[in-house]
Amino acid sequence: MGNTPIWPTWPVTSGEDELLGVVARSGRWDVNSRITGQLTKKMAKYIGMRHCVFFNSGTSALYAAIMTIRSSKSDEIITGSLTFEATGGAILLSGLTPVIVDHDIKTLTPDLAQIKKVITPRTKVIMSLPIYGMLPNTAGIIEIIEEANKEGLADIKLITDACQAVDARENKSIVGAEGEIVCGSFQQSKQLTGGTGGFAATNDDWTAKCLSDFHNHGRVGFPDDTGTNIHGVNLRPHPAALAIVLSQLEIVPGQTEARRRNMKILSDLLQDEKRIILPPLTNDCGPHIYVIRVVDANIKLAFLAELKNRGIPSISGGYPQLLSQNPNFAEGTICLCPNAEMIQASQIWLMHWLFLDPKGNPDQARVNMQYLAQAIREALDKVS
Ligand SMILES: Cc1ncc(COP(=O)(O)O)c(C=O)c1O
Repeated sequence: MGNTPIWPTWPVTSGEDELLGVVARSGRWDVNSRITGQLTKKMAKYIGMRHCVFFNSGTSALYAAIMTIRSSKSDEIITGSLTFEATGGAILLSGLTPVIVDHDIKTLTPDLAQIKKVITPRTKVIMSLPIYGMLPNTAGIIEIIEEANKEGLADIKLITDACQAVDARENKSIVGAEGEIVCGSFQQSKQLTGGTGGFAATNDDWTAKCLSDFHNHGRVGFPDDTGTNIHGVNLRPHPAALAIVLSQLEIVPGQTEARRRNMKILSDLLQDEKRIILPPLTNDCGPHIYVIRVVDANIKLAFLAELKNRGIPSISGGYPQLLSQNPNFAEGTICLCPNAEMIQASQIWLMHWLFLDPKGNPDQARVNMQYLAQAIREALDKVS
């Protein structure tokens, strides 16, 4: 193998056609397909939680999670500013008020001190955000919740938007598993993908039943309609998407291991580079994006262009808008978000599949990391 990079492409196939054929031939093309049952068992094992309900998107899973927990329309949900619009969109869809907080500059996830500050008797949910797959200190969030609930100030529950963090782990379970509900997305760019779809996982039997009823018009399996009495809508997934997820589950653990290893190699190669700030990788994080921040935000766009000139694929400059700067979501905002603004203004994204082993070859991945590190240094030299 030479010293030129071979960039991995995404998605990586894993025998999906066989399972898709099973769905097609079964004549059971709705959520009652056998595939749903098979994936439920495997997924619960993979994420280390007792129940897992599948949805037609991650947004739907978040919406159902909020609807399962909310008690009145005046409830508030605390979440971070630096995220995909869907986090805020699901909150608005449920009729609740988003209260947006700033992020911790080290972990990149919502700042615990800020969360604590904005809790009121109306707070119903803290929506934790392991954004980019980075770990948000769930134990610290639970401590804040327990303190508030103990004082009788509120009855707060924890939902984790793990749509970018399906392979991030805390105490061997998916990030946020110690809270009430963890939601994820199977959208095309995610580490575990079916093209579209999502899940909501919980360890609580009643919550699982509510989630399941809600995604199916509030029904509990026609004609025996006895259950939670929660209303609902149709948020059911197509079993073809679930079949793809089921095959992808076979290769995800190996991919996660490769990503973590190769991201660490890149970080080690760039350790002495003072013009950029590297992502806060940890052993158990689930890297969706390798986020680099330029110390001088003024050079961001030129730096991005120079990286593209050097043939680096799958890179971008991040989100177009923070939730705290978006008039659709910012009504409930009671603080400015200078850290999120700083991250937003300075970030460059390298997507997770750049860090896979091309054709399963770790030596080629090392070559890729060396090329990336050199391209980053050269691009910085050019624009600094
Ligand atoms: C943080 C976050 N939340 C929610 C979503 C919504 O997921 P979906 O696109 O499956 O609705 C996404 C991504 O797509 C996301 O990145």
